[in-house]
Amino acid sequence: MAFLALLVLSVRAAETVPAPKKAEEQFKNIQVLKGIPAEDLFPAMQFIAASLNQDCEFCHVERAPEKDDKKEKQIARKMIAMTLAIDRDNFARTPRTSRTRRRGITGGRSRASPLPRSRRT
Ligand code: HEC
Repeated sequence: MAFLALLVLSVRAAETVPAPKKAEEQFKNIQVLKGIPAEDLFPAMQFIAASLNQDCEFCHVERAPEKDDKKEKQIARKMIAMTLAIDRDNFARTPRTSRTRRRGITGGRSRASPLPRSRRT
C-alpha cells in the first residue's frame, strides 16, 4: 500500500515538472530575446562578449544587467533585433535540404552563431 502511494506520488511529481523557463520569465528586462530558453541566455551573452573581446560591463552596469543605462546595450539590442528580423524575413522559408542546412545558402556559413541553438535557422 505504501508502495502504491509512493508510485502515485511520483507519477504526480513527473506530471508537474514545469516546462523549461523562458528568458523573459527568469530575467527582468528581456525585449528582443523573448522566447529563448532561459538557460541559453548566459551562453549567448558569453558568445557576444567573447566575439567583441569585451567584458560584460561593456554593455552592462555591474551587478545590474537588467538596466538599460549604457548605450552599448541599447545598440546591441537593436543589432540583435535587426539580425532576427533579417533571419525571419529572408531565411525562414528557405527549403532545408541537407546542403542548405550544412553550408547555409551562401555556401560558407560560419559554425559559430551568437544566437542560442533554439534561434538558429
Ligand atoms: C554587446 C553588449 C552586451 C554584452 C558584451 C553582454 N550583454 Fe548581456 N545583454 C545585452 C542585451 C542587449 C541584453 C537584453 C536582451 C533583450 O532585451 O532581449 C542583455 C541581457 C542580459 C541579461 C538579462 C538581464 C535582465 O534581467 O533582463 C543578463 C543576465 C546578461 N545580459 C548577462 C550578461 C553577461 C553575464 C555578460 C558577459 C558574459 C553579458 N551579458 C555581456 C547585451 C550585452
